[in-house]
Amino acid sequence: MNKIVMKKVLSEGVKEFEIESPQIAKSRHAGQFVIVRANEKGERIPLTIADANVEKGTITLIFQEVGKSTMLMGSFNEGDSFLDVVGPLGKPTHTENFGTVVCMGGGIGVAPMHPIAQALKQAGNRVIAIIGARSKELLIMEDRIKAASHEMHISTDDGSFGVHGFVTDVLQSLIDKGEKVDLCVAIGPVPMMNASCKLTKQYDIPTVVSLNPIMVDGTGMCGACRVTVGGKTRFVCVDGPEFNGHEVDFVELVKRQRAYLPQEREAREQYQHECGHHNHH
Ligand code: FES
Repeated sequence: MNKIVMKKVLSEGVKEFEIESPQIAKSRHAGQFVIVRANEKGERIPLTIADANVEKGTITLIFQEVGKSTMLMGSFNEGDSFLDVVGPLGKPTHTENFGTVVCMGGGIGVAPMHPIAQALKQAGNRVIAIIGARSKELLIMEDRIKAASHEMHISTDDGSFGVHGFVTDVLQSLIDKGEKVDLCVAIGPVPMMNASCKLTKQYDIPTVVSLNPIMVDGTGMCGACRVTVGGKTRFVCVDGPEFNGHEVDFVELVKRQRAYLPQEREAREQYQHECGHHNHH
């Protein structure tokens, strides 16, 4: 269980793992995620299921090494196993035939965007993918996104590949050319999702974002993943991860990301302490 059958380096610090997990491979839907713990020393990391192979009984996880726990995960090799992979968690993507859908992925956000594009394509939509990264070397999953869409555009912040600019610049030019977009899906860093929502709001294009905050229990109990959507408190792990982007309080999201370190760490240590405590009884 949870054995790594394939490991690949996609770009600097971005790793892809194919993990044996037949149950999750069979039951997952687009948009859902798992919470992974490498070993006892690792924190619980929420990761969207980027792909699954039911016949092989494997799921694909893609992540960026940004801290201790993700670096620990990244140090594992083919043949090693993760301590636990819990899921599928979260609500599946709402898929129907909307018409023309633009799927935008920024940086590592291209990975969670992939199964959504696949599902929307399968539901009969015309899928236009726009993927972006800071530079050419950081671009991931180009071939797979191409296969999951009807049309693909690429942008890089530094102009080293594709359009010189942001994914929102590409969307703007599509709109300017008269493209009628029925739905937009935007996944990536918070500023990218915020900018995408600001743009689509101007044109009344319904927009879905997928949020990826810190998570602890993944069951709606700890409160670590709370966000404000449409003025209401929601938990990303059970109410999300996808939300109406025009209703997400991005200002708060950015603040909470910054405030996370001192406060949430304490909350998490408390939680883990309590869990350990309960286990002794
Ligand atoms: S991770 Fe969502 S409430 Fe704990």
